[in-house]
Amino acid sequence: MPRVTFYPTGKCGEVPSGISLLDAAGKLGFELRHDCGGFATCSTCRVWVREGMDHLSEIDLDEENMLEEAQLPPPYRLSCQAKISGDVVVQVDGEEMDWSKSALEELSRLPEAFRKTVRMIVEKKARREGIAVILPDTAIPYVAEAKGEIEKVAHDRLLFEAFVKQVHESP
Ligand code: FES
Repeated sequence: MPRVTFYPTGKCGEVPSGISLLDAAGKLGFELRHDCGGFATCSTCRVWVREGMDHLSEIDLDEENMLEEAQLPPPYRLSCQAKISGDVVVQVDGEEMDWSKSALEELSRLPEAFRKTVRMIVEKKARREGIAVILPDTAIPYVAEAKGEIEKVAHDRLLFEAFVKQVHESP
């Protein structure tokens, strides 16, 4: 039976071949968020595939459309659609934190290509520091710092991809 591992919790176990990642989480005793009930229309069940992309079913048109609409490039998959045929390791995005409107404006000034990654860097940092809501006081310095980090690698596609991967896979 395929072995599935979910980070950041590290929960893992064997699950029957052919079930979705969403159902695999259920079998391992926890729930992934899935607001639309598994119909490929919300993207809240997204996961970042760390290993084993080839051990997941192909992306169909509904999933492709949703990933595109939510701007989730590979190796993102919708866990409700991706069926398992071999060992996989995935990373579950944390729930997005609340940002005040003016804090979001800080993000909106960034090039779209970085925005998601900067948001993730800022939220991970804020969580580590026990901050629950991103207000401008936090957003202004944190966004600037994250932008500076990204700009160092943005000129090189491979470096940029490695940086994004590291951000996703860090706790
Ligand atoms: S649960 Fe909504 S897209 Fe998967």
